[in-house]
Amino acid sequence: MNATLPIGVFDSGVGGLTVLRALRQALPDESFLYLGDTARLPYGTKSPETIVRYARQAARVLVDRGIKLLVVACNTASAVALEDLRATFPQLGVVGVVEPGARAACAASRSGHIAVIGTESTVRGGAYTRAITGLRPDAVVVAQPSPLLVALAEEGWTEGPIATAIARAYLDPLLAGVDTLVLGCTHFPLLLVPIREAAGALVTVVDSAATTAATTAEMLAGCGMLHHTPPARPMRLMATDNRERFARVGSRFLGIELDPADVELIDL
Ligand code: DGL
Repeated sequence: MNATLPIGVFDSGVGGLTVLRALRQALPDESFLYLGDTARLPYGTKSPETIVRYARQAARVLVDRGIKLLVVACNTASAVALEDLRATFPQLGVVGVVEPGARAACAASRSGHIAVIGTESTVRGGAYTRAITGLRPDAVVVAQPSPLLVALAEEGWTEGPIATAIARAYLDPLLAGVDTLVLGCTHFPLLLVPIREAAGALVTVVDSAATTAATTAEMLAGCGMLHHTPPARPMRLMATDNRERFARVGSRFLGIELDPADVELIDL
């Protein structure tokens, strides 16, 4: 392992670019190798067995190319496959987004009444509930799959009456007595405006991107693996299908304009 290697980041598609964005802000001297498994998106509706298989294959590609740490940016893969990835790649540090998201929620919540929204598989597996109650045993956690929010974010309908109405449909039945809402999906930070509108001023909205970046920095610092000078090539992007769409939709998630020519197409 050497400090000049990139940090590997993996997601089911473009969503993880919201996490990459936070990582790049927190760690400007690091380089990143990002893989979006666009051919098999969404993971959020798949069975645990399939998600584990896909996550292993994606991680294998990054490991074979040479990375010093793996960030599982996908909430669904973090919720379902993290332990398997740690067992499959015991020599590698693996950071998921669920634990940092749970920490952010516990830090923000006064009452311990916390709501989580995510994909069907993330919510069904209960990983956020376990992570939150592991940190704060008195916490009361409610969770709601919100798949239409994923579609809205990809479509770019991130503000306006339709986005607000859909956010309200998911959140109104969920938020009674809740003071903190966790965005347990890579796509939801793009929908902050309608989500905040639906949640109201009394609910604190947290997402895991910034805390995941902080956890990554701590892990690298802890093992002397931080890179201290700006890298020649800060970011390489790979996708398993449709680099045009990856670049077009991904530009909004990453916050910078992407060129399809900069996206390498790979097979898993
Ligand atoms: N990246 C996924 C997540 O954060 C959302 C998209 C999908 O279902 O694959 O859960």
